[in-house]
Amino acid sequence: MLYLGIDLGTSAVKLLLVDEHGAVLRTVSESYPLSFPHPGWSEQNPADWWDACVRGIHKLLDGFDASAVAGIGCGGQMHGLVALDSADRVLRPAILWNDGRTAAEVNYLNETIGRQTLSDCTANIAFAGFTAPKLLWMRRNEPELFARIDKIMLPKDYVQYKLTGVHACDYSDASGMLLLDVQHKCWSKQMLDLCGLTESQMPRLYESADVTGTLLPETAALLGLPQSVKVIAGAGDNAAAAIGTGAVHDGDCNLSVGTSGTLFIASDRFAVDPHNALHAFAHASGGYHLMGCMLSAASCNKWLCEDILKTDDYAAEQAAIDPQKLGQNRVFFLPYLMGERSPINDTDARGTFVGLSMDSTRADVVQSVLEGVAFALRDSLEVARSLGLPITRSKLCGGGAKSALWRTILANVLGVTLEIPQAEEGPGYGGAMLAMVGCGLYPSVPSCADALVRVREIIEPDAALCALYDARYAQFSAIYPAMRDLFKTLK
Ligand code: XUL
Repeated sequence: MLYLGIDLGTSAVKLLLVDEHGAVLRTVSESYPLSFPHPGWSEQNPADWWDACVRGIHKLLDGFDASAVAGIGCGGQMHGLVALDSADRVLRPAILWNDGRTAAEVNYLNETIGRQTLSDCTANIAFAGFTAPKLLWMRRNEPELFARIDKIMLPKDYVQYKLTGVHACDYSDASGMLLLDVQHKCWSKQMLDLCGLTESQMPRLYESADVTGTLLPETAALLGLPQSVKVIAGAGDNAAAAIGTGAVHDGDCNLSVGTSGTLFIASDRFAVDPHNALHAFAHASGGYHLMGCMLSAASCNKWLCEDILKTDDYAAEQAAIDPQKLGQNRVFFLPYLMGERSPINDTDARGTFVGLSMDSTRADVVQSVLEGVAFALRDSLEVARSLGLPITRSKLCGGGAKSALWRTILANVLGVTLEIPQAEEGPGYGGAMLAMVGCGLYPSVPSCADALVRVREIIEPDAALCALYDARYAQFSAIYPAMRDLFKTLK
């Protein structure tokens, strides 16, 4: 039998065809536009996601026996607000996870409703990318559209709705809405009331490997797949990535360096960061996790290379960096191109180069961007360490993990042994694994991960380089506090 994993990302949908032994037979990537209609805003059209999925599935299956496909599992960009009317028409472009328009709503939620109340109801406080503040924004700024909302869904659930016609969501993705009582895995009545919603507008909740439905007849015909194909609830992309890299047992860690950068720590028990700097979400394994998320990670390198330096040869840019200069760069970069989520929660923060001099080179600037992303990820790691979570090893996935130089920088800035899994496509592979569990091939998500995930490369940190980076990290850490008040005036 064959299984299809879908990773509905921010720049593209990545699709994987996997056999029952876990071998990846083909991968396909189909991109779609991302629009920034105002500085700090970020939107996409759900129709573009679906069109890309349809194109991608055709390419993925070309030459394979489509009748052997048993299940589909989807991991997707989290937090995005997709709103449908009663005729299932999308009411407005989806407002994405890295959209910063809701500063006023976040302030109202955290300061007027109160962090403690939010944390008691949902295990989390408000961040600009979360779904609840977007609903408050829509109610205030687009009241006619808000009044027409019949169904709220997250990005991957829109794709699954097109596949099955079932309005469903899994606990890991629902955790990021600020509407879920994460500990008890049910919608928070208090939060729904606060946002002017009723439970009838919300998706039905499932564990990630639960089967939510099979293909609608017209969708099966469109995709050339049997109607019997099972669609499972899937997961937020970070939880799906953690499945795909095997971070499923208590204390396991996964780092993802994609458009966003995340630190994900799996836990068997529900726990909340007392300062709510890390998110407390459900895991697709059935347990829970803590997560720090930075809004711009590999996207900073993409921005520098493609938009500023006008090149797509990232390898050539990195080849110009002298390995002797690792840990000694005097140029620093704050990677806050879309504001920042974890741990500083500041929509006004902006990307910043510090320490440039006449002898700074293009290579120093490129290096500073790779290092700035690693330093900002370390900010979340330090929060985890302060909670007594001793992270010394982690899986690593995402586009940034493809660069050997960036892997070295990450291992040494973080002081963590990094393991690169054989299947590079974390969330897509995790989606396919969840589909295997849903179709009964494995009794549980952890047993599937233990059977299928293999590490292909291990990067050990070097003590001398870690010491150099510790000193640079101390300098990096002083920059944002010095800039914070200035950022508020740069609007
Ligand atoms: C996680 C988050 C991002 C998106 C990116 O909280 O916002 O990692 O899921 O796809």
